[in-house]
Amino acid sequence: MTATKEPPALTSDITSPPIVKRHQRSAFPVIDLWKSSVGKKWIMGVTGVMLMGFVLFHMIGNLKMYLGASHFDEYAHFLRELLVPIIPETGVLWILRAGLLGAFVLHIACAYSLTQMNRKARPIKYQSSRDYVAVNWAARTMRWSGIIVGLFILWHLATITWGWANPDFVAGEPYETITASLHNPIVGVLYIVANLALGFHLFHGTWSLFQTFGSLSPRFNPRHNPLRKGIAAGFAIVVAGANITFPIAAMTGVIG
Ligand code: HEM
Repeated sequence: MTATKEPPALTSDITSPPIVKRHQRSAFPVIDLWKSSVGKKWIMGVTGVMLMGFVLFHMIGNLKMYLGASHFDEYAHFLRELLVPIIPETGVLWILRAGLLGAFVLHIACAYSLTQMNRKARPIKYQSSRDYVAVNWAARTMRWSGIIVGLFILWHLATITWGWANPDFVAGEPYETITASLHNPIVGVLYIVANLALGFHLFHGTWSLFQTFGSLSPRFNPRHNPLRKGIAAGFAIVVAGANITFPIAAMTGVIG
């Protein structure tokens, strides 16, 4: 059997934690981590896992839409009431939001900074022009899908959570708000486009993550790359695929 050549991952293989020369070390290890490109890839990986957790649980929560308005609104209420009365109402939600926002900002800042660093220097040559094309295509896909998802989130929050950009917004009734919005075919199509971009981003991101963290293990075997790719594709298809069913269900009158 001939071994198939895997396209290179977005991140380089990392076999040891970020190395910073002794005389270059600052008093704060976090600053060293931020300064090295490997450190930035680590930060991207860790924050990426946090964001993956969010999109997975958000999608699972959204499935409640198929059970009807009372179930969905009850779930939204449950999130606001987490750990009450030990912690005041919406307290846990705000802690989760702060973590999510922090992860999001760091993820974008690292992506931007790594792009700038890559533009300035490309010390390790690609093995072939095919590798260059593959990496370039993946990097470009990640950039564009990331930008689309970022813009979508801002619009999603303005219309669904804060409501100031949405004439159908009903405070305290997320089911009514989201289904009324998704009935509009323009809104529905924008949700589908954003979730296709999310799917691409999750696929490449998860695959890169396996390469970044997987190669830390001495037992890391590139032979298992097809399995890793399958898991990355499965995660992306489940999250984005389920999310895409919501606008389709609303536009066809199955929900709302
Ligand atoms: C068709 C897919 C989606 C539906 C139906 C949906 C629905 C909703 C609804 C109803 C809320 C408001 C919940 C509430 O006020 O209690 C919400 C909030 C939110 N959604 Fe989505 N969403 C979808 C996709 C996404 C995606 C793809 C992302 C991110 C990549 C996302 C990020 C957020 C965020 C950050 C919030 C604010 C959460 C908070 O209250 O802190 N959503 N979504």
